[in-house]
Amino acid sequence: MAPAILLLSFLLLGEYTVGLAPSGPWDAFNFAPASRTVYPRSIREYSGNVTSASSILSNGSLTLSGDESYVVLDFGYEVAGLISLNFDDVSENSSIALSFTESPLFISPRTSDDSVVTSANLSYDGVLNVPAPLQTGYWTQPSAQLRGGYRFLTIVSTSDSSVSLSNVSAALDFMPHVDSLRDYSGYFYAADPGYVDQDFLTRVWYAGAYTVQIDTIPADAGRDPNHPSPGWANNASMDSPGPVLVDGAKRDRSVWPGDLGISLPTQFVSTNDLNSTRNALATLYARQDASGGLPYAGPPLDLLYSSDPSDTYHAWTLVGTYTYVLYSGDFEWLQEVWSNYTRGVKFLASKVDETGLLNVTGTLDWGRLGQGGYNSEANALYYKVLTSGADLALWLNDTSLSAAYTANASALKSVFNDAFWQADKGLYRDNTTTDFSAQDGNSLAVVFNLTESAEQAAAVSEGLTANWGVYGAVAPELPDTIAPYIGGFEIQAHFIAGNAERALDLLHREWGYMLYTPISVQSTLLEGYTSNGSLYFRSTDGYDYDASYTSHAHGWSTGPTSALSFYVLGLQLTAPQGETWSVAPQTAGLPYAEGGYKTPLGWFGVSWASDGGLWNVSVSTPDGTSGIVRPPVAGTVSVDGETAELDASGSLPLSGGNHTVSVQTAG
Ligand SMILES: *[C@@H]1O[C@H](CO)[C@@H](O)[C@H](O)[C@H]1NC(C)=O
Ligand SMILES: *[C@@H]1O[C@H](CO)[C@@H](O)[C@H](O)[C@H]1NC(C)=O
Ligand SMILES: *[C@@H]1O[C@H](CO)[C@@H](O)[C@H](O)[C@H]1NC(C)=O
Ligand SMILES: *[C@@H]1O[C@H](CO)[C@@H](O)[C@H](O)[C@H]1NC(C)=O
Ligand SMILES: *[C@@H]1O[C@H](CO)[C@@H](O)[C@H](O)[C@H]1NC(C)=O
Ligand SMILES: *[C@@H]1O[C@H](CO)[C@@H](O)[C@H](O)[C@H]1NC(C)=O
Ligand SMILES: *[C@@H]1O[C@H](CO)[C@@H](O)[C@H](O)[C@H]1NC(C)=O
Ligand SMILES: *[C@@H]1O[C@H](CO)[C@@H](O)[C@H](O)[C@H]1NC(C)=O
Ligand SMILES: *[C@@H]1O[C@H](CO)[C@@H](O)[C@H](O)[C@H]1NC(C)=O
Ligand SMILES: *[C@@H]1O[C@H](CO)[C@@H](O)[C@H](O)[C@H]1NC(C)=O
Ligand SMILES: *[C@@H]1O[C@H](CO)[C@@H](O)[C@H](O)[C@H]1NC(C)=O
Ligand SMILES: *[C@@H]1O[C@H](CO)[C@@H](O)[C@H](O)[C@H]1NC(C)=O
Repeated sequence: MAPAILLLSFLLLGEYTVGLAPSGPWDAFNFAPASRTVYPRSIREYSGNVTSASSILSNGSLTLSGDESYVVLDFGYEVAGLISLNFDDVSENSSIALSFTESPLFISPRTSDDSVVTSANLSYDGVLNVPAPLQTGYWTQPSAQLRGGYRFLTIVSTSDSSVSLSNVSAALDFMPHVDSLRDYSGYFYAADPGYVDQDFLTRVWYAGAYTVQIDTIPADAGRDPNHPSPGWANNASMDSPGPVLVDGAKRDRSVWPGDLGISLPTQFVSTNDLNSTRNALATLYARQDASGGLPYAGPPLDLLYSSDPSDTYHAWTLVGTYTYVLYSGDFEWLQEVWSNYTRGVKFLASKVDETGLLNVTGTLDWGRLGQGGYNSEANALYYKVLTSGADLALWLNDTSLSAAYTANASALKSVFNDAFWQADKGLYRDNTTTDFSAQDGNSLAVVFNLTESAEQAAAVSEGLTANWGVYGAVAPELPDTIAPYIGGFEIQAHFIAGNAERALDLLHREWGYMLYTPISVQSTLLEGYTSNGSLYFRSTDGYDYDASYTSHAHGWSTGPTSALSFYVLGLQLTAPQGETWSVAPQTAGLPYAEGGYKTPLGWFGVSWASDGGLWNVSVSTPDGTSGIVRPPVAGTVSVDGETAELDASGSLPLSGGNHTVSVQTAG
């Protein structure tokens, strides 16, 4: 790349981040508070001798008298960061402790919900004892004992003496590099008249956005996975020059490449805070081993195990690299990691044997059972590595490498269908020694375009509904478990197969449950749960029946946020930074939707509405770009008031700028 071009892209990258999305009624759904100092909104409960409890909400003092007297404060939504308070009246023997929890099910004066390791007693973390003797005046929790995610704070007296306190607050520490947490570069707004909450789609879009914000942590605030019980510490180094996008707020506070498959697109369409993703990816490349293998998890967990932990998570680092460069156009960084990236592709290629399939030997994955051998999920991911790697190579002008990746991809696609497709079931099987069909392999096969026809994608979309229950899609590959991470890919698969109403049905079941259930936080999204809606996620698969360990703010569960932008608005980038784009809305019976997002080239916005026989869309894209609009209905088409014809693929080619496309349907 010529130095002048490098400089230009660098300057643009710095500049665009100041731009905000337009304001409007959608701002009321933004969960991020205006100030980084937040106060409890209500008293959840109290017990023992508590005097003037509610005055704590209006600058007054409350008094706890006697051992185990406690008050539970509710911030009203998921928060994170250090607690401060004022001790107004203490005596010689006064002492108190703090406990924290995301779910109200684990409110307790004796322990916090678990964040360090799983423990069947659900009380590994214990409480934070405020060092005695207490002093009157302002007190702040030690920074090492930061809690990364909670909604409820319990303050308990731990002696027979009384203590009066006031001015309890939390200092939000996430996304430390931005001035205002509410300054989003993207937005989304739609009505959902068929659901109990007509604002559900807007609300879930913002819940996903806020979840990823709270998962963007300072470089010195990773989780210490070795802290002894009781207690915890979140002061481990992320080995990064700046903030890092991690998997979850309370835990793991670590870089996990698979999670980026969902959290990175969420981040792009909402805050566009892509540096924290680049920082996450950089920690993974810095740990690449001599064979080209990439870690299962980055710092501070650093799960490198031996040398070959997880072929799928290895692949996700490579896919994440593509996605980051597509959104940012950061070719400078791509060139820095390019030799590592290509070694990473070779590492996977070396596992392809004479069958033409990748034989998985690094069997760790997102928590599913039965990974290994000729697995369809892993081979779908490898296909995506090859197709996206071909694009990356092309963008770096390495046409021969690009052609080689493309050739390998098309060979794999054909072998994949021969090996895994079960025409009688209309689903792909999990591996070559089973008839069993998984949610992950089938969803990713559609999302990554392993299907060879629209009919095949439609069959998979239909077949996946067999796993649905009232609370969402149960993953057959992790029995009795609802995995919203994989559910996020399934949502995309239904949209791609043209079944937008089916996608909304699953959104209502699964994300509707997560967003409104009283056992979660009604603001950020759960890591996972069981088929009956309980928090005993992965109880027999590593989580030791510790329901309090489950995270309530996991970026991997935010699939709807980007899906609503990419499929309901229908707005997608088809070249880096949106130099080319497409607008192909799926209305799903909704009356209207609007929104958009930013790239270094500028604002991309879409607003559509159905009104009787008229369907209208306004599209705003930067000058100098070009794209297509594909209307979701048939009829007489006009562009900016002039009659127009769709091309053979049902699309209208348009140049950048502001355009209105209308379709008058017959009758
Ligand atoms: C690739 O080649 C094109 C055309 O010569 C040039 O404009 C572009 O900057 C090159 N890209 C890189 C990353 O070097
Ligand atoms: C992102 O990183 C680039 C390059 O290091 C820097 O110039 C830019 O200011 C960063 N943007 C933000 C919002 O921190
Ligand atoms: C409760 O605490 C207050 C203030 O310390 C004290 O005056 C009162 O006697 C206590 N009540 C009981 C029943 O212990
Ligand atoms: C509490 O006090 C602060 C300043 O001391 C003031 O800004 C705030 O409005 C007060 N809040 C209430 C609820 O009285
Ligand atoms: C504090 O505890 C000590 C030791 O139990 C006791 O001697 C002392 O009287 C207590 N002070 C008060 C004010 O209760
Ligand atoms: C809970 O179990 C952990 C080990 O998993 C132990 O270290 C801890 O002391 C136990 N806590 C309680 C309160 O029993
Ligand atoms: C109350 O807490 C806030 C936030 O921590 C702090 O800025 C303020 O100084 C405290 N007020 C007093 C009177 O200490
Ligand atoms: C590439 O991988 C090596 C280890 O194999 C690592 O030392 C180096 O930092 C990586 N390069 C980048 C740019 O991450
Ligand atoms: C093939 O899939 C089944 C079902 O998921 C699983 O039980 C089995 O272990 C898998 N085989 C291999 C080699 O991993
Ligand atoms: C996959 O590779 C491993 C390690 O080389 C080997 O033991 C296993 O038999 C292979 N699996 C298949 C299905 O070939
Ligand atoms: C998906 O694959 C088919 C060939 O099977 C191809 O025609 C089509 O363009 C691909 N779609 C995308 C979005 O890449
Ligand atoms: C599109 O319209 C908006 C609002 O009227 C305007 O700010 C923007 O500059 C226009 N974009 C282009 C590329 O003309």
